Amino acid sequence: MASSSFSMLAFVLLLLVLLVDSSSTHLSTNFYYKTCPKLFTTVKSVVHSAVAKEKRMGASLLRLHFHDCFVNGCDGSILLDDTSSFTGEKTARPNVGSIRGFNVIDDIKSKVEEACPGVVSCADIVAIAARDSTVILGGPSWDVKLGRRDSKTASLSAANSGVIPPPTSTLSNLINRFQAKGLSAKDMVVLSGSHTIGQARCVVFRSRIYNETNIDASFAKTRQGRCPIKVGSGDNNLAPLDLQTPTFFDNHYYINLVNKKGLLHSDQVLFNGGSTDSLVEKYSKNLHAFDSDFASAMIKMGDISPLTGSNGEIRKNCRKPN
Ligand code: HEM
Ligand SMILES: *[C@@H]1O[C@H](CO)[C@@H](O)[C@H](O)[C@H]1NC(C)=O
Repeated sequence: MASSSFSMLAFVLLLLVLLVDSSSTHLSTNFYYKTCPKLFTTVKSVVHSAVAKEKRMGASLLRLHFHDCFVNGCDGSILLDDTSSFTGEKTARPNVGSIRGFNVIDDIKSKVEEACPGVVSCADIVAIAARDSTVILGGPSWDVKLGRRDSKTASLSAANSGVIPPPTSTLSNLINRFQAKGLSAKDMVVLSGSHTIGQARCVVFRSRIYNETNIDASFAKTRQGRCPIKVGSGDNNLAPLDLQTPTFFDNHYYINLVNKKGLLHSDQVLFNGGSTDSLVEKYSKNLHAFDSDFASAMIKMGDISPLTGSNGEIRKNCRKPN
């Protein structure tokens, strides 16, 4: 008798644990199904008009999600503005002078707040905007998992600590940095395929185009045209990460690497006689494999240490804590 009521109690406790677990610690694709049914259409329409105005914005929004997720998880921390008493992530080395898209996120947030006030996190908006951008530029789609909450703070030192690898990285540093976030070398190679869209500044590829030998000579020459050798001159001049189709999400990035036309040092190390050569070759020939692996890897990246349950908050304004 005593033992059967004990096992009953244990069973009820187990059920409770499972229930609490499923409602608070995991992301799910239908998280806002009841609380914000217009969420997806609202985000998509704002991203659509932003990308129609400037195609590069699609690339910028995709990168925003990456830089959010790699610093203390996908928690919207990158969106917080500096104040007189607080310095966030926006001025960190990987972000300053190059991270963009904040106005688009604000625009989405204000329309989402109109439709369903106080419900949808900024971190989730960034994740959906990254997906929509990819699709609008011709890339694959995936079901975005939701239920992330927003951080109340951000960390400049964490953003500067190397968790987002620099473009001077060796292959093993890239692998290690992604591994530290639970992502495999394959995930790293496939997510780097994001560099099939968007632009980079002269300052991040100068040493590659003047000093490296694993680069196509005529490509280097072309890029030198708008990126002077002198440090400090033309630092912000832009060049497309994919010389072929910089506003189209395809597998040209990998074809470039095979032809020694990767723009960043950290791009070309993926195809430079090392362990990832075969994957690069595969994606250069198989768009379908790239698209499908990219979608899976984006879901994995979006799972990095989210705040859930009663952790964090739903910010009213993505630029500041409530
Ligand atoms: C593997 C390690 C990576 C390194 C070292 C790296 C580095 C960079 C650098 C240096 C730039 C140019 C920024 C500037 O001008 O200062 C850039 C741009 C970009 N990155 Fe990455 N990245 C990496 C992975 C990723 C991942 C995982 C994603 C997305 C999932 C991504 C998406 C982008 C996009 C879309 C742009 C262009 C942004 C724009 O035009 O506004 N990158 N990246
Ligand atoms: C090329 O390498 C040399 C020697 O390491 C260095 O002094 C120089 O600044 C580099 N040039 C560029 C453009 O990065």
